[in-house]
Amino acid sequence: MIDKSEIKANSLFANKRVLLSSPERECVEINDTKSGRIWKSIPGGHKWLDYFKIYDREFSYFVNKSPKILEIGVYKGASLKLWKEFFGEGCKIVGIDIDPVCLSYHSPENNIFVEIGLQGDDAFLSHVIDQHGPFDIIIDDGSHKASDQIKSFISLFEHGLRSEGLYLVEDLECMYWGNTDEYRDVKSTSVDFFKSLVDMQNEVFSRYSYNELSMHGENFAKSLDIYGISTFLLSIRFYQGIVVLEKGIKGPPKTLHL
Ligand SMILES: C[S@@+](CC[C@H](N)C(=O)[O-])C[C@H]1O[C@@H](n2cnc3c(N)ncnc32)[C@H](O)[C@@H]1O
Repeated sequence: MIDKSEIKANSLFANKRVLLSSPERECVEINDTKSGRIWKSIPGGHKWLDYFKIYDREFSYFVNKSPKILEIGVYKGASLKLWKEFFGEGCKIVGIDIDPVCLSYHSPENNIFVEIGLQGDDAFLSHVIDQHGPFDIIIDDGSHKASDQIKSFISLFEHGLRSEGLYLVEDLECMYWGNTDEYRDVKSTSVDFFKSLVDMQNEVFSRYSYNELSMHGENFAKSLDIYGISTFLLSIRFYQGIVVLEKGIKGPPKTLHL
């Protein structure tokens, strides 16, 4: 007797594999994006193809504007090269990593700097901000652990990112892997945390007694400088596997009644 649900599950899986490995799809994602075309020419990297459209869409404003970029996670230096070429002359790229081997990519003459330390270490991150910041863009491609992603954001968003800067966290899929809790190493996942920032983004309305913050789930607001975050958190954009948090100055809410 054939189990129809099994056939359906297998064909879904087969389709998924085709989708993930289709050469046509690779061409579209890589060749139709500036970041993808550059990435293709750099050895030693490994990225989801969907990311390139997101990079082009989110980062294009900063091209040729000499931005300062901080990336957590250097590995073999591939993304340091990507950003250098993508943003053009005058940009400064700072990579941080736990692994001292990454110092081989430190190249001040090319405006590429590598600092060794832990992304969850607030004192280390403050040192990086003092030395090189504030940054126009911060990218977290480090340990992919919830605890580190949350700690780094708290250490860097308010003091390490320029106004109108972007904070991008990648590989959020690690919060969903079914076979390990290695990345979900704290009570709430980093996706839960970033979702909860919507409450802080709208915190000003609670001062008008509309609502209590974080009525559901863990109350991150208790442990955070909510006014620091709520004052500057302009927008939060979730993509598959990525969240982008945009910083900006928000005035008090106003309306115009005509
Ligand atoms: C995915 S790789 C980075 C890839 C790189 N951004 C690229 O696209 O070419 C992750 C890196 O994060 C580093 N890492 C892991 N845990 C870390 C931590 N707690 N603090 C800083 N770096 C860490 C690893 O050593 C590794 O080099």
